[in-house]
Amino acid sequence: MSSVSTSTPGVRQENFRFRCIACGDLSDAASQDFRCGRCGDLLEIAYPTWNEKKPDAAMLKSAWQKRRLSSSAVDLSGVWRYRDLLPALDDEQQVITLREGNTPLYELPRCARITGVPHLFAKHQGMNPTGSFKDAGMTVAATFARRAGFRWVACASTGNTSASMAAYAARGGMRGLVLVPEGKISWSKLSQALDCGAVTCQLRTDFDGCLKLLQELVRQAPVYQLNSINPFRLEGQKTLAIELLEQLDWQVPDHVIVPGGNLGNSSAIGKALLEMRELELISRLPKLSVIQAEGANALVRTLREAGGKRLISVPAETRATAIRIGNPASWKKAAHVLEATGGACEQVTELEIAHAKAEIGAEGIGCEPASAVTLAGMKKLVKQGFVKPDETVVLVLTGNLLKDPDFTIDFHRGEMFGGGPESGAVDSLRHPPIVLDASLDAVMRTLERFN
Ligand code: F0G
Repeated sequence: MSSVSTSTPGVRQENFRFRCIACGDLSDAASQDFRCGRCGDLLEIAYPTWNEKKPDAAMLKSAWQKRRLSSSAVDLSGVWRYRDLLPALDDEQQVITLREGNTPLYELPRCARITGVPHLFAKHQGMNPTGSFKDAGMTVAATFARRAGFRWVACASTGNTSASMAAYAARGGMRGLVLVPEGKISWSKLSQALDCGAVTCQLRTDFDGCLKLLQELVRQAPVYQLNSINPFRLEGQKTLAIELLEQLDWQVPDHVIVPGGNLGNSSAIGKALLEMRELELISRLPKLSVIQAEGANALVRTLREAGGKRLISVPAETRATAIRIGNPASWKKAAHVLEATGGACEQVTELEIAHAKAEIGAEGIGCEPASAVTLAGMKKLVKQGFVKPDETVVLVLTGNLLKDPDFTIDFHRGEMFGGGPESGAVDSLRHPPIVLDASLDAVMRTLERFN
């Protein structure tokens, strides 16, 4: 079994190539570990035909608008609707889709007041079919896996990738193998993988250990890896940025702020922004900033202490388990897009994450802890003067509130910060459940207490 190549039946020969991010080598095929055959660095998808004939920006915008009126599966997908900027398939009926993308852009008036940034929005990727941004990448990578004839797909995960992969594998009639760190992912995410029939292995290691093992596995077994090291995943995740710009009527925001874990998503959004400028869909770039948990701050340290030249790995620890990653695979891609867009990289504490998550929840939309780092990080960037009050900011909320109920319940019950001095800072945001006798009087008295 070879990996996907441009000569795979059904893949349009002329549409794309694999390009090494370090030596620039262009190739028609990628090996199982998605590493450059010459220098071993990561691959990305390139579209050499754009050099000869750029897709026309006005025609693209109008085609994407028109597809919103269509009822075909590829047009109903908020990823494949933008297929002109994705690796193409001859037969569009072959896509594995759950109608991913199409995620809302919300105003955040309450958070805007708190932070003093009136033009504040959230692009809520947690509204995807399996509840996270992973679906946008998975529809593309799973489709190419099936076209290449793979029976098995696999991933290492902090939970969301596995939930998404399990769903798309099942929809596409493939088997899924999931490697997750034992005891370190939320039950909600684990239950999604089980429900969709993936073979789910809880390994006695952390995420980085799971990913290392997967890399070894794919060199030996005909299993197609669907981590974000797979460049097809990042192509799908690009569409978040395209859809966002379309929702803003192509008015470019000043800042896009995204959480950073394995750093695939920031890389994908950055690639989309750069490509959109190349194709003149937009005339300037927003600053793309990445926020990490203080306990999993490999990119922060890599940029501050090594000038972005070499990765500084860290032992990762945070209750935002989705981003509990110490050795991010796509650090070079992320460092590049941060530099290209002029973005910042910040870190936030556990308390700041919990605080921001409660503030987003109070807007009526909620998100998972890893997503809340964006608001927490933005507050810091405002203090530093990097984000200015008159600028437009979009926070990318990556996962749904229901992904990690334990975090939310522990927070509201006051069980998160051990009742120590730290917990006082967030007391006004806590709404613990109230146990009462089943009497009208008890409920009436409670109502009065909160009036
Ligand atoms: N937010 C959520 C909700 C995530 O699940 C992840 C990553 C991230 C942010 C970070 O994105 O890795 O592209 O920088 N979750 C992965 C997983 C690693 O296995 O589900 P990234």
